[in-house]
Amino acid sequence: MAKITAGVGSSHVPLLGVAVDQGKTQDDYFGPIFAGYEWTREWEKTEKPDVIVLVYNDHASAFDMKIVPTFAIGTGAHYKPADEGWGPRQVPDVEGHPDLAWHIAQSLILDDFDMTIINEMDVDHGLTVPLSMMFGTPDKWPAKIIPLAVNVVTYPVPSGNRCWALGEAIKRAVESFPEDLNVQIWGTGGMSHQLQGPRAGLLNREWDNKFLDLLVGDSQEARAIPHIEYLRETGSEGIEMVMWLIMRGALGKTTKCLHRHYHIPCSNTAIGHIVLEPAD
Ligand code: DHB
Ligand code: FE
Repeated sequence: MAKITAGVGSSHVPLLGVAVDQGKTQDDYFGPIFAGYEWTREWEKTEKPDVIVLVYNDHASAFDMKIVPTFAIGTGAHYKPADEGWGPRQVPDVEGHPDLAWHIAQSLILDDFDMTIINEMDVDHGLTVPLSMMFGTPDKWPAKIIPLAVNVVTYPVPSGNRCWALGEAIKRAVESFPEDLNVQIWGTGGMSHQLQGPRAGLLNREWDNKFLDLLVGDSQEARAIPHIEYLRETGSEGIEMVMWLIMRGALGKTTKCLHRHYHIPCSNTAIGHIVLEPAD
């Protein structure tokens, strides 16, 4: 049986990809940020996940205003890094797991989550930056990736509670796959940041850390945080944090924290990172 063994939350700031690609991860600006991922890079070497369900959002790379899927699952065999204006990142292509992805798609849809199915797309910094943070610069990513894209760009975006419920359904889907697979689920984006308008540059250390606290234990309170609170407290792009609730919902009733890191600022964003284990 496949099993979700751990959850990882992480910001996905594009500048971190630039730091990796230009060899600047140890300089004064980036050093303290990457130091907070060192524990996880070592841990992943021993965990060796077979597959990662990587919850992220596309930033007008694969989708635009022509099509806005609320929840989409990648069922393809591989995905190329997207060109976000500076040419595609020179990182390995992402390998999918079509068998598990189609199984999850079927299970979710029959469980009343109307997923969009994507066989072909390029993946942007929302997906490749967390891979770089957790795995460094390998020739080949050490796990197969099932991209799970969430619309957090164009309103209406899904509620935190709906994201949590999707996470629960992903857990049921994974656990009904007959092959023995070590599966992790990652939730990316956040933490507080606003890239536009009069409040551009907003960061909220206190609120972000309260959110990280909430992800540990039974976390039920996190499901009820309304959109307006993310917007008010964490800026327009802080809404990306609802994706972390898909990860949290997939870990079951209660969790234990294995590692946690917070750093302000990186570009316009508060960097948050957490590693959780189911503790039922
Ligand atoms: C930044 C952060 C993001 O989450 C993003 O998607 C794009 C840019 C930033 O802080 O620069
Ligand atoms: Fe983003």
